[in-house]
Amino acid sequence: MFVLWGMTAVRAAWDAGGVQRRRAPFPVTRAAVCGPVAVHAYVEKDLMIACSPPVPAVEPTARPAGDEGLARADERVLFTEGHHFTLAAPQDLEVVAAAATGPLSVILQVTKRCNFDCSFCSETLQEPDPTLAALERVRDNLAGVPRVFLSGGEPLLRRDLVDIVDMFAGTVIGLPTNATRGLQLAHGLAGKVAFVNVGLEGPRATTNRVRGDYDKVMTGIRAFQHAGLPLSLSAVVYRSTLTALPFTLQIADVLDAGKLKLIMPLRKGNALDLADSEFLTVEEATAAFERLAELRTAYGWRPAVRLTAWTPDTEGHMIVISPRGLASAWPVYDAPDLLEPLGSLLDEPIAEIWTRYRFKRNHYAKYLGRSIRAVSRAGRPPSTRRPLRIAHA
Ligand SMILES: C[S@@+](CC[C@H](N)C(=O)[O-])C[C@H]1O[C@@H](n2cnc3c(N)ncnc32)[C@H](O)[C@@H]1O
Ligand code: SF4
Repeated sequence: MFVLWGMTAVRAAWDAGGVQRRRAPFPVTRAAVCGPVAVHAYVEKDLMIACSPPVPAVEPTARPAGDEGLARADERVLFTEGHHFTLAAPQDLEVVAAAATGPLSVILQVTKRCNFDCSFCSETLQEPDPTLAALERVRDNLAGVPRVFLSGGEPLLRRDLVDIVDMFAGTVIGLPTNATRGLQLAHGLAGKVAFVNVGLEGPRATTNRVRGDYDKVMTGIRAFQHAGLPLSLSAVVYRSTLTALPFTLQIADVLDAGKLKLIMPLRKGNALDLADSEFLTVEEATAAFERLAELRTAYGWRPAVRLTAWTPDTEGHMIVISPRGLASAWPVYDAPDLLEPLGSLLDEPIAEIWTRYRFKRNHYAKYLGRSIRAVSRAGRPPSTRRPLRIAHA
């Protein structure tokens, strides 16, 4: 797919286009999760397409090739070594979501500071960094949550990031990052983080235009890889970066990334200054995904590709915890700043906050791959597979 593009010429034309950038400034339930995460761990069946709504009621998601690492079938949700959640057996998603007493995954902002100023960045409002004591309290109140993304801002700007990662030992940790401090921190993170998710919007000119210094990002990615940290990439997609997508997937393939996540920009922060023309409709984004999946097959690219578009089925599916410990549903389309406050993780446990969360079904649908477009990773790199038992699902 994407076969209709005259890639080089068209990319150059798009890249010359004018997007303006703004300079602006538990105790953890350890029994519930796997131990230190193995390197090179990304295994799934080839080419499973999970379609957008309506959410299928009964079929479980495709299991990774070889099931020796999966948890027992008496538990509802499993976490695969490919860093995805999957139903243990055919079950009604709505029933699973309704019965759940907590989230599968949360995003914890350990800072709002950043050394980039991406043209789409939603996180431009500054807040003081949380102290380690505050983060410990949040961690205690997150007991039972199987996966935490330590995000920002730019989490690698925290010089005590390894201490924070250690604090969450026993939880599956995802680390979204711009990678620019990879050289400094990769070694300390090795073996402690399930995967780093590096933002990359395309080849040099494209990433330089819409994000920040491509070469610094790539230097950081090489440091992560040298340290053996599993890699995923994510790209915010504009109309003017569509032609870069095949190059981005080629880069992901060369880097042997587990997946490339495509994200549609949300109108918040710097993205409020983007030209309206940069925002794709859901139909346009879906067509772009399908063309990319065709190209992926044609060229034998291996990484999984996932597209999250903003529809009623993805609304509010994330739970974001601000540096002040405030949990919010995100994105809630008609809420101020797209955030619907749920309560403070400094004051109460996640189970309490979960009772106020209106988007349980969307949360489970997204993390079980039911409300997104997805093609699973092809091929099978060496991997040690371990199951994650999710007690509260
Ligand atoms: C907020 S950043 C924090 C982690 C790190 N600094 C980074 O850039 O990956 C995490 C991701 O959020 C996504 N993001 C940022 N602003 C967004 C927006 N306006 N709409 C949708 N996604 C956005 C980008 O994919 C970005 O990589
Ligand atoms: S998207 Fe990430 S790297 Fe870019 S400005 Fe925002 S926090 Fe920084």
